[in-house]
Amino acid sequence: MTSVLVLNGPNLNLLGTRQPEVYGATTLPEIENMCELHAALWGWHVTCLQSNHEGILIDALHDARGVHDGVILNAGAYTHTSIALMDAISSVELPVVEVHLSDIHAREPFRHLSYIEKVAIAQICGRGPQGYLDGLDRLRAHLEGDTA
Ligand code: DQA
Repeated sequence: MTSVLVLNGPNLNLLGTRQPEVYGATTLPEIENMCELHAALWGWHVTCLQSNHEGILIDALHDARGVHDGVILNAGAYTHTSIALMDAISSVELPVVEVHLSDIHAREPFRHLSYIEKVAIAQICGRGPQGYLDGLDRLRAHLEGDTA
């Protein structure tokens, strides 16, 4: 069975109450549930993890090797700072789709740089919770050899 890790980084545990004008009203458990239901349509299994700590996110990527077939990653602000997360993705050689609820390219200049983008198979941003489902679709296309 195809298995996917949905990994969320710092402050995303506060979705629903955190700056709803930027990130919307949907909570993280609701997004995780949406991912599970979406992937279940294809018989895929989803494991969800959120951490506010960079090292735990890196450990989760290491542990994903040999367990999961791909990763949906919203690294939060670590997106813009963490060479260590970028290196972890390169090291585990798993397909990673980068997701952001907001459009990071339409926000402050310091959000325009993504270290994750350099090693991810795709970046999806500005689509709110739907972006996670789009990310799963993108991962499926990748795993099934569709380059579209
Ligand atoms: C975010 C965008 C980041 O710039 C920000 O630091 C976040 C959330 C998003 O989902 O839009 O924490 O990754």
